[in-house]
Amino acid sequence: MATDTSIDSARLLREQYKDGSNLSARIRLHQRFSTNRYGQMRWMFDRIQLPDNARVLEVGCGTGLLWRGRPQVPGGWRVILTDMSDGMLRETRASLTQLGHSFSYMQADAQAIPFRDESFDAVIANHMLYHVPDIPRALGEVRRVLKPSGVCYAATMGLANMKEMDELAARFFSIPRMTESTARFGLESGEAYMRGAFSEVKLERYPDSLVITEAAPLMDYICSMRVRTRVSDEQIAALRTHVENEIAKHGEIRMTKDSGLFIARR
Ligand SMILES: C[S@@+](CC[C@H](N)C(=O)[O-])C[C@H]1O[C@@H](n2cnc3c(N)ncnc32)[C@H](O)[C@@H]1O
Repeated sequence: MATDTSIDSARLLREQYKDGSNLSARIRLHQRFSTNRYGQMRWMFDRIQLPDNARVLEVGCGTGLLWRGRPQVPGGWRVILTDMSDGMLRETRASLTQLGHSFSYMQADAQAIPFRDESFDAVIANHMLYHVPDIPRALGEVRRVLKPSGVCYAATMGLANMKEMDELAARFFSIPRMTESTARFGLESGEAYMRGAFSEVKLERYPDSLVITEAAPLMDYICSMRVRTRVSDEQIAALRTHVENEIAKHGEIRMTKDSGLFIARR
């Protein structure tokens, strides 16, 4: 039975991802200030090793970042992008049309994937499993729709990821963390879930960090997060002043990044 807390978090999740605006604010910070200029999505795309003709499913595709700026998607790949948010999918479809590759789109919950058993060569679940209420069920669904030779790619963050944000949260918002995502399905906690569903699991980390030289994109990032619903305008204003002062004094704010990709086989 759904509890008040689970209803509340489902509502906040729907609100957070009703369209691509919140996610895009966070992507912008990473795109502008990440020190590893190769790009995490390009690095992930390199790891998707499939034959020229393959069926690929992405669950929780968000704004379709993995596929943007990727003219090399093989023409023989049939790629189906799914997300639980219809608003997100609408924006993604509009932005990917320029790419020239023919993607398919479908609204779907990763916990009940609307496709036949053993019908995909790859299933991608990037930075989304920590949002899913029943993670073993979602991974069971991913396994079910994968062909016996199929591969699951699941990206997430480690506990150290942007730990400096949690120090700011503790100091200015009197809460221990800005996000609980990595505790639910992170590089540390995710492995046991992956091993519960797959017989072979490999983890690759992407080395990176942030050197942020402008206050506004960092504040946009923070205000795009769910934590914004729990803090006052005064708390945000105090944090903004602190961030502006730090950047004026030191020229930058540095943050740790810790993210990686599970690559799993049935
Ligand atoms: C942090 S975003 C990541 C988007 C994209 N994969 C990326 O890496 O940029 C999480 C996405 O998962 C979607 N999502 C959350 N729970 C979901 C579920 N149970 N089934 C399908 N999509 C879900 C959200 O709507 C959102 O678009």
